[in-house]
Amino acid sequence: MQLSLCLAMLGCGRVLTAPLGQQVLTTTGRHAGPHAKDPYSPDYRDPYGRKVDSVGDKLQPLPFRNGDGTSVLGPRNKPRERQNPDVVRPPDTDHGTIPNMRWSFADSHIRIEEGGWTRQTTIRELPTSKELAGVNMRLDEGVIRELHWHVQAEWAYVLEGSVRITALDTEGGSFVDDLKKGDLWYFPPGHPHSLQGLSENGTEFLLIFDDGNFSEDSTFLLTDWLAHVPKAVIAENFGVPPEMLDAIPEKEKYIFQGSVPGSIDEEIPKSEGYRKSKLQFTHKMLDEEPVNASGGRARIVDSTNFPISKTVAAAHLEIEPGALREMHWHPRADEWSFFIRGRARVTIFASEGNARTFDYQAGDVGIVPKNMGHFIENLSDDEPLEVLEIFRADKFEDFSLFQWLGETPRRMVKEHLFAKDKKAGEKFEKAIWNAEKDIIKANRGYDVEEKAEL
Ligand SMILES: *[C@@H]1O[C@H](CO)[C@@H](O)[C@H](O)[C@H]1NC(C)=O
Ligand SMILES: *[C@@H]1O[C@H](CO)[C@@H](O)[C@H](O)[C@H]1NC(C)=O
Ligand SMILES: *[C@@H]1O[C@H](CO)[C@@H](O)[C@H](O)[C@H]1NC(C)=O
Ligand SMILES: *[C@@H]1O[C@H](CO)[C@@H](O)[C@H](O)[C@H]1NC(C)=O
Repeated sequence: MQLSLCLAMLGCGRVLTAPLGQQVLTTTGRHAGPHAKDPYSPDYRDPYGRKVDSVGDKLQPLPFRNGDGTSVLGPRNKPRERQNPDVVRPPDTDHGTIPNMRWSFADSHIRIEEGGWTRQTTIRELPTSKELAGVNMRLDEGVIRELHWHVQAEWAYVLEGSVRITALDTEGGSFVDDLKKGDLWYFPPGHPHSLQGLSENGTEFLLIFDDGNFSEDSTFLLTDWLAHVPKAVIAENFGVPPEMLDAIPEKEKYIFQGSVPGSIDEEIPKSEGYRKSKLQFTHKMLDEEPVNASGGRARIVDSTNFPISKTVAAAHLEIEPGALREMHWHPRADEWSFFIRGRARVTIFASEGNARTFDYQAGDVGIVPKNMGHFIENLSDDEPLEVLEIFRADKFEDFSLFQWLGETPRRMVKEHLFAKDKKAGEKFEKAIWNAEKDIIKANRGYDVEEKAEL
């Protein structure tokens, strides 16, 4: 049997892992049994570049690849190496120089305040984070992120707990809402707002700003402004005597402990001038009906179903056992991904033969510049993979490689890929016969290394 007749994609289901005559190995990290062989030993062979879950399988990656490479003698940061199996031993399909596309919030400086904290991933932490910046913030129960506004629009996803938001629109309409895990909000540029932790342990959320150069420290704060205006002017503005203003803060509060609020109805001003906003600043993303893919679920939110969100589009993905966020690219916006649960590997194809693979886990941020081909592979055996793909765009858009080839004249596809093997070309044609976009592909077992029956 020839190797070329049994291509992994074509339904053989079993693939050779070593040229004839060499030891045939029977393992991946995922299926390491008692007879398993360490995929980081010098004589391990895997010409297909299968995934290894070094964290889940407690393996220590080493730079040995198909007979090349050697051990590490110098100082090592082993936990970081374990988090980066495809950086320590990149697949041999990686090539060329590609800037860094991974950052972990664990490496972001935390600003600690009364009852809360905040940390950011911007173009300063991750130079490829050009279009969007992210902020991870935590507020305990009753703790307030003070009344403020900023140059950039703000989009947010509630990670845990619940939070009350307030905002004002340009018509003077007021908006107040309570959000739970999986809900979103969006504030257009310059719109004033506040946030407050509500539930027993407050809340934590991810904020996205539509400029990678955003800084969480350069927002316009109520207390900061009033601390920098002569009290006589403030007194005129509000029609109160200046002595009354001796009590106001001398500097910004930013995040501080407030009291636990009552219901929204109890809290909103009962004055004649109070007007409810006609705009909807929030969206219940996880309550939405998902797009069911063969290997998971996707929820897409952009200005078509969340009209105020004109500059941020997103997809929330749940990727099932061994499943793959299919090979695709985004035509108009860079992807800013945030990993909520699980572990994944992503190879980014940058044209001119350049490609690089990165590994991600919960709390990590990934970037994929627009038009660069990529996939997201669920690495873990036991942890679900949940990820947000976020874009500076009014609409979520992607091109599926599978769909593209399926809708292209088959003759052309075969002449591109299978000129050397007509039989394989016919099988491939069957594989793409009914090609529809399938945003997450179910595991069909071709990634599992098995002993070939010779
Ligand atoms: C709040 O945090 C405490 C301490 O970590 C924990 O025991 C409790 O279960 C949490 N409550 C909720 C509602 O998550
Ligand atoms: C980011 O903003 C800072 C401060 O406003 C500015 O000095 C810097 O040039 C900006 N960087 C980029 C890449 O736009
Ligand atoms: C997706 O699957 C869920 C659970 O199986 C089901 O309840 C829902 O109706 C499906 N949605 C669509 C759009 O088919
Ligand atoms: C990720 O894949 C593993 C198996 O490889 C599976 O056990 C886990 O549940 C998957 N994640 C999700 C979200 O299904």
